[in-house]
Amino acid sequence: MDKKHLPKKIDELTSMQIQEKMEDLSRQIRHHRFLYYVLSQPIISDAEFDKLYRQLEELEKEYPSLVNTDSPTHEVGAAPNTEFKQIRHRVPMLSLSNITSFEELKKWQERLHRGIDGSEDADKFSNKQLSYVSELKIDGLSIALTYERGTLISGATRGNGEVGEDITLNLKTLPTVPHSLSLTNKAGKKNKIPDLLEVRGEVYMPKESFAALNAQLSEKNEPLFANPRNAASGSLRQKDPRQTAKRQLAFFAYFAYVIDKNIVEPTSHYETLSMLDDFGFTVEPNRSLAKNIEGVQAYCDKWADKRHALSYQTDGVVIKVDDRELWKALGSTAQSPRWAVAYKYPPEEAESIIEAVHFEVGRTGAVTPVAWLKPVKLAGTTVKRASLHNADQIERLDARVGDTVVVRKAGDIIPEIIKVEKEKRPIHSKALHYPDHCPSCQNPLEKIEGEVVFRCPNTYGCPAQLERRIEHWVSRDAMDVDGVGESLIKQLLAAKLIASAADLYHLTKEDLLSLERKGEKSADNILAALKASKERPLPNLIFALGIRHVGLNAAEKLAESFLALSCLAEATPEAISSIPGMGPAISESVCDYFAQKENRQLIDDLAKAGIEMSIQDEGAKPISQAFAGRTFVLTGTLTSLERSEAEKAIKKYGGKASSTVSKKTNYLVFGENPGSKLLKAQELGITVLDEPKFLEMLEEASKK
Ligand code: IVH
Repeated sequence: MDKKHLPKKIDELTSMQIQEKMEDLSRQIRHHRFLYYVLSQPIISDAEFDKLYRQLEELEKEYPSLVNTDSPTHEVGAAPNTEFKQIRHRVPMLSLSNITSFEELKKWQERLHRGIDGSEDADKFSNKQLSYVSELKIDGLSIALTYERGTLISGATRGNGEVGEDITLNLKTLPTVPHSLSLTNKAGKKNKIPDLLEVRGEVYMPKESFAALNAQLSEKNEPLFANPRNAASGSLRQKDPRQTAKRQLAFFAYFAYVIDKNIVEPTSHYETLSMLDDFGFTVEPNRSLAKNIEGVQAYCDKWADKRHALSYQTDGVVIKVDDRELWKALGSTAQSPRWAVAYKYPPEEAESIIEAVHFEVGRTGAVTPVAWLKPVKLAGTTVKRASLHNADQIERLDARVGDTVVVRKAGDIIPEIIKVEKEKRPIHSKALHYPDHCPSCQNPLEKIEGEVVFRCPNTYGCPAQLERRIEHWVSRDAMDVDGVGESLIKQLLAAKLIASAADLYHLTKEDLLSLERKGEKSADNILAALKASKERPLPNLIFALGIRHVGLNAAEKLAESFLALSCLAEATPEAISSIPGMGPAISESVCDYFAQKENRQLIDDLAKAGIEMSIQDEGAKPISQAFAGRTFVLTGTLTSLERSEAEKAIKKYGGKASSTVSKKTNYLVFGENPGSKLLKAQELGITVLDEPKFLEMLEEASKK
């Protein structure tokens, strides 16, 4: 900023404060524009937006010399791109050379020393003891983010290393991709914001989100993703950022270039990672600095098994020389830098034997072949069953009972058979035949045009479908009936004590005691859990009905719009599809559901059993466990919602709102004029969230 143009009345300090205020307003405006134009999901009213905009305009009018050339008052709202433009990387995005053993690790260390000795700067570095940074290698895809004076201006895929695709709008939907660099670090000190910062890192899909996505795709009979990496890649290349936003992707930053003649770049990689932390990026927390190669080896050993317990998939360890001065001396080959290497863990595969194949009937009648395997340890758990997905897959693999097979876990969670070892096949084995009748009710199966699965059309008469529907009814995100699970439901159906979800509410203590292995205490607990479930919020009730395509997120929107199940039951397809985010598939399937007399009867029975069927006090009961076990403290004034609304929102997703900061606090949310709680939280190293970050977390939780 050119100070000589400042009006005299503004002294140094106030000009800084005004600039900060302008920056802050600009950040908020950009964020809300993005939510409005790109995601079509505004979280503030037009009037509130206009207020922010006017505040900035007025400040700019009063202090024209302080106006930034890239102020949002100079731009129109951003509409999504339909084609990805190409972006040339400032510095090529190389890949890493792989090693798979500790001998190779030692050889790499020797090469490093030889490289240093042969370099022009040999004198400077000779006899230097090298330190190494070990980072878990996340299995996702690498991207590059560019920040100009603290604002994210572009995000690109790696592409061919020289040129990548411009996926800025999609990347902006990730809560862990900051739209602007944090002005203060965790200790509350001011960050130096460089003219240009290029941040590189990995976008990944957490294992749980991957499993949920594949479950949704399978429900819609769409092709599944083979692993979280493919799922992340497909999700980032969506033409519509709103689709990317639904995919629950996350970003770990692992590297940065600072381009600013007034700011000295960190000379150590470990410090670069801390700098990224300070700027508000998420850096994989298990990184470690080792003084020698033995320390690296110990790290690789330590994480070989432990990594399976993480919520994201890792396939190795990336080892980097810590001293960035040495990076220049060591240089790169055409493909990879010499100062870093990837230690890859052996693939997690195991051999087992197919002991049986069962054709299982799902909630919507889809018949899925499942191989029951000789139990085998794989990536941290014992695997006993693997889905064979559908008839096409059975034919492709030609898997048979008695076959020796190779099993792998897709994304460390879903076991799948990747190969049949035909040479080990017993002589009299028989090819599997997909049944043409339902294994549960014997009804002929149907194959619907364009679908890969066969379905049992006997929706209301098929015992297996009924059993699955009741299992879904009691599940956590549905009516959450503790103590009622698969085996109890089976027993109750077999004893003819229930014939629908509504019958659960007429069970007596005597009924439960008549069952094998049910004692007084557990019977009392089950009855109490059933009673409590009658009060579940409307979104969970709608989800519990098991309407095709209606997940918890859609159920929440339907509940908000129709307020009572009776109103939803009478809604027209047009009324449903006019709700933002509700497509024709949902509206059709909701209307179909309520058109069936069996479903109407169930709802009548549920009402008679005393199930609450309209919106109650929304904030009082959690509708999901997205924030389970996490305590939030609020301080300062939030601009887009009242404190009580923020507390309600936290509780809605299973979190706890507390008024005092302690070691048990997980997040401190601060608004304008925060009090001493912010300082205390920073002293205790608690994650602090400004309002946009908190809103992003709420948005993210609403998608779970
Ligand atoms: S550094 C030039 N650090 O692994 C060095 N890469 O096999 C660039 N990856 O393309 C990469 N975690 O997609 C680095 N902590 C980490 C990483 C990491 C995952 C991926 C990245 C890279 C690939 C190389």
